[in-house]
Amino acid sequence: MSIPIKKLKTGLELPVLGLGTWAMGGRNEPDPNNDDLKDIGAIKSALNSGITAIDTAEVYAAGQAEKFVGQAILGQDRKKLFISSKAQQTHLNYQDIKKAALASLKRLGTDYLDLYYLHRYPGEEKIGECMKALDELADEGLIKHLGISNFNLEHTKQAQDLARHPIEATQVHYSVRFREPEKSGLLEYCQANDIFLVAWRPLGMGSLTRGKTDLDSEPLIQKLCGKYKKTPAQIAINWLVMQPNVVTLTKTSNQEHLKENLGALDWAMAPEDVKKLQTDFSHQENISDTIPLA
Ligand SMILES: NC(=O)c1ccc[n+]([C@@H]2O[C@H](COP(=O)([O-])OP(=O)(O)OC[C@H]3O[C@@H](n4cnc5c(N)ncnc54)[C@H](OP(=O)(O)O)[C@@H]3O)[C@@H](O)[C@H]2O)c1
Repeated sequence: MSIPIKKLKTGLELPVLGLGTWAMGGRNEPDPNNDDLKDIGAIKSALNSGITAIDTAEVYAAGQAEKFVGQAILGQDRKKLFISSKAQQTHLNYQDIKKAALASLKRLGTDYLDLYYLHRYPGEEKIGECMKALDELADEGLIKHLGISNFNLEHTKQAQDLARHPIEATQVHYSVRFREPEKSGLLEYCQANDIFLVAWRPLGMGSLTRGKTDLDSEPLIQKLCGKYKKTPAQIAINWLVMQPNVVTLTKTSNQEHLKENLGALDWAMAPEDVKKLQTDFSHQENISDTIPLA
């Protein structure tokens, strides 16, 4: 299928759903018991099913996830892909970001990244040099677009003030259950300032899917599943992508899950239902660190 696209005024286009790669190959280190071929096969299947955006990070399984992406995209038309990666927390200074970006390119087997994020806010003292490093990587054509991740609203504005190139994407935790970007005003700010809000963990690491307690006991989700003839995961994804400037990423190494997630895209939730989920979903959470970040 062809994934719907959203476009910023800057011209940047992003598919509303991309493939995440957190936990492919392991978590913080490569896992010797991981089924590597299954993960590489899952990325290939996603590409064959119409996914063009793949999100990864140098920290995912210590570079292993990037290598998997590199293997999966071999032979693909690079221009049709949108590959994003991130500089990890321990590399958030001028020199190390430059080196980290080159190392990611090598593992991915590509000569540019479509989008490169700072994975975390580096702190008041380092943010200037980090933005300078991203600007220079963009000048050199090694990255096409600048992104930030897990920045609050104040730090987002600070990064924008310091960068010469526009910041076109911020990747943050946002789901029907986790609403911090609404409460903090970040979502509204992105919508008013031409920035993509890339929602990570849209399915709560699988906890917002069929048969899971949160949704089984949520009458509103059940009602919407009945009305649209969709599953809870499809409701959770569609609700995100119906909102202006919001796109999302799901990680799956499972064919059936991939099919289900793609089935979230070819229909539209009515605006009143989007609003209703915003106000009436009863299983909201305030903190995201009950489950590990990625
Ligand atoms: N910037 C950041 O700090 C940050 C933080 C977290 C995530 N991310 C990015 O965002 C991506 C998505 O977030 P995430 O991976 O944390 O969470 P997620 O996509 O909400 O959930 C992924 C988990 O849900 C399962 N799953 C996927 N689709 C399913 C379905 N239809 N039914 C049942 N289970 C399903 C997957 O298992 P199976 O493989 O078995 O399907 C996997 O265990 C990441 O992979 C990463 O690229 C970024």
